[in-house]
Amino acid sequence: MKFGYFDDNKREYVITTPLTPFPWINYLGMKDFLSLISNHAGGYCFYKDARLRRITRFRYNNVPLDMGGRYFYIKDNEDFWSPSWMPTRKVLEFYECRHGLGYTIITGRRNGVEVEQTFFVPVDENCEIHYLKITNKSTQPKDLTLFSLIEFCLWNALDDMTNFQRNLSTGEVEIEGSVIYHKTEYRERRNHYSFYSVNVPIDGFDTDRDTFLGLYRGFDAPLAVENGKSFNSEAHGWAPIASHMIKISLQPGEAKELVFVLGYVENDEDKKWLKKGVINKEKAYKMIEKFKNPEDVQRSFENLRLFWSNLLNKFNVLTGIDKVDRMVNIWNQYQCMVTFNLSRSASYFESGIGRGMGFRDSNQDILGFVHQIPERARERILDLAATQLEDGGAYHQYQPLTKRGNNEIGSNFNDDPLWLILSTAHYIKETGDWSILDEIVPFENDPQKAASMFEHLRRAFYHVVNNLGPHGLPLIGRADWNDCLNLNAFSTNPDESFQTCDNKDGKTAESVMIAGMFVYVGKEFVKICERLGKEDIAKDAQYHIEKMKEAILNYGYDGEWFLRAYDYFGNKVGSKENDEGKIFIETQGFCVMAGIGLDDGKAISALDSVKKYLDTEHGIVLVQPAFTEYKIHLGEITSYPPGYKENAAVFCHNNPWIMIAECIVGRGDRAFEYWSKIAPSYREEISDVHKLEPYVYCQMIAGKDAYKPGEAKNSWLTGSAAWNFVAMTQWILGIRPDYDGLLIDPCVPREWKGFTVKRVFRNAIYNIQVKNPDGVSKGVKKVVVDGKEMSSNLIPAFSDGKEHFVEVIMG
Ligand code: GLC
Ligand code: GLC
Repeated sequence: MKFGYFDDNKREYVITTPLTPFPWINYLGMKDFLSLISNHAGGYCFYKDARLRRITRFRYNNVPLDMGGRYFYIKDNEDFWSPSWMPTRKVLEFYECRHGLGYTIITGRRNGVEVEQTFFVPVDENCEIHYLKITNKSTQPKDLTLFSLIEFCLWNALDDMTNFQRNLSTGEVEIEGSVIYHKTEYRERRNHYSFYSVNVPIDGFDTDRDTFLGLYRGFDAPLAVENGKSFNSEAHGWAPIASHMIKISLQPGEAKELVFVLGYVENDEDKKWLKKGVINKEKAYKMIEKFKNPEDVQRSFENLRLFWSNLLNKFNVLTGIDKVDRMVNIWNQYQCMVTFNLSRSASYFESGIGRGMGFRDSNQDILGFVHQIPERARERILDLAATQLEDGGAYHQYQPLTKRGNNEIGSNFNDDPLWLILSTAHYIKETGDWSILDEIVPFENDPQKAASMFEHLRRAFYHVVNNLGPHGLPLIGRADWNDCLNLNAFSTNPDESFQTCDNKDGKTAESVMIAGMFVYVGKEFVKICERLGKEDIAKDAQYHIEKMKEAILNYGYDGEWFLRAYDYFGNKVGSKENDEGKIFIETQGFCVMAGIGLDDGKAISALDSVKKYLDTEHGIVLVQPAFTEYKIHLGEITSYPPGYKENAAVFCHNNPWIMIAECIVGRGDRAFEYWSKIAPSYREEISDVHKLEPYVYCQMIAGKDAYKPGEAKNSWLTGSAAWNFVAMTQWILGIRPDYDGLLIDPCVPREWKGFTVKRVFRNAIYNIQVKNPDGVSKGVKKVVVDGKEMSSNLIPAFSDGKEHFVEVIMG
């Protein structure tokens, strides 16, 4: 069952009922001012940091769901309603929500009055625009009263929902004309305020929530709205809001447009005040002035659309299969960008107060994003490297405002350093910018401890070499990619987090996954060394890689598949010898990606075991059999009920590793089958089961052991976005940036007759046409570039600002 449809021309997902199984959200803003907005206009906005600089309030864990947003109420005689359906939930004659790239348009109609609400954050502005068009579609004149409503958050989102003894006394506002200013704590240490304006004179306002709502009422039936009249209340403490009241008379067929601006302003210390107690509003005036007329809004909106078109035009495919094209060209790229911007901070599953930016996560996000704005990827890589520890290890997280490593979460996730090598290699392959390796970057954010970026990578590589266990495999530390496989934690205390609890100083627990990664990523390190003429390091690194391969073949293979790990006691994890958790997905992916077992059948056997034991109709589950009881020596993974999260859910993040591995062994049909099982566009048809947005990936889909297999959770901010994009574009379509050019090496279903790709690569445009006359999955027999036949499928980096035509014949 579907709740909407894709409008590919407009690059929108159109939701046709407010009764989606969960709020389906979108993101507004690209850089500093960021917003979440649901198909009910729910959600919130913040400036840079979702925890410390939260502008509007949202109630997680509330019933009804999705409480807090940008709400409008129409009072029409005795009736009142909201065009976003929530919060009044009055039946609408027409409802539609169009989530587009950086904007959301929600339209509602009742009693012949139609309200179209366009929400967006203009490029390079610190505000949300709420543009309303109110049309009288009835045959009678209408005298309406419109109320707006946003509720302010008292900036620090965690304090805001915990520290009431202080908060309920601090709230302050100013009201001037049609603008309501929120200035809580501005009198002391803050240099920022927010405001909510409208471009017409108002007939009333409210700034005190409880006055506006009336005692013991909710957003669904505010007293002011019911009465048809604002109270002109002034907030002193309690809960400041901004609500405008505007009377609107409309003849049949007539429409009125209104522009609301929800803005954020910072002032220098010496410019904070106009006079004692009155804030300096200059910057707000300017911002409001910019969007005074609907035409200004139109222009800014077009600008936003252009901005996104330019970004997405860097990779465009035509396969003739809508479900593929719309993911690759629109939604997957969009999600990669959003994920890059927000890391894991704020979604409907991440409260925006919990986590900093993950070291591992952010490095992986770069893989799916680097082609869009390489300069920002470069900056992010250097920021991440600056939190690296001197021994090559890494803080697991860092705080975006300070860019410092997060001590609370600590380090010792022993896969972390390797991701830095991978992201840097991808960056160089995309851009050809080797100069990044010469950048001088601190360790632990301490300029005294700085070294070249190359040195950072070297230490990352040797961090693994210096931390090997009894089988010559990497020690796992706190955990590897699988945060929940905690082999040294032995936690018995429910009040501590598996991520941060004391760990035993384990010198036995080894990770075969890090071993596979080390070989996969290490190869890139060797190539980088060779390119820089650092032959000795290259040779030594190669030596360690060879040894690691041996260790995997000798101790990391379990007969039919790769083992997952050795535990604290030196026992096997992910082995046929185990009663539960016999086979894990991660090592089957990474070891084959690393090329291990390609020549002796081990790789194929591992992948066939994935098919046999882990594949389900909803994707590949992480482990089988699922753990049914808490196993203290395995940690958090066994704390989840079977079928959820790391305990045998479908992790959309690592399914692509298997897709890539299948491409490496040349099985395009299977790679594509796995891709389509979890691709949101394919799951759209079972939206009732899937439950979450059909346009973006989720971290996980409940596995076959769960009560409701196929039900997804944790949408939007997940490494699934980047990895699925890499798997599809670089391995299935096979358009793969390499150090010296663009490699074209597709691995597609045999029935595909071909496809075309337009790819911007290092300042040239590649128009690539792939033909598959013999119905093969893999193999390129002829490549013609600009009319000339080439001797290989590595197309040079022309970097000449021109268009080039590439014809590829598979066979
Ligand atoms: C989450 C984390 C990621 C981790 C994964 C598996 O997605 O963000 O860092 O690798 O779970 O545990
Ligand atoms: C929990 C989650 C895992 C996530 C980790 C870090 O362990 O299960 O997916 O990576 O928390 O937040």
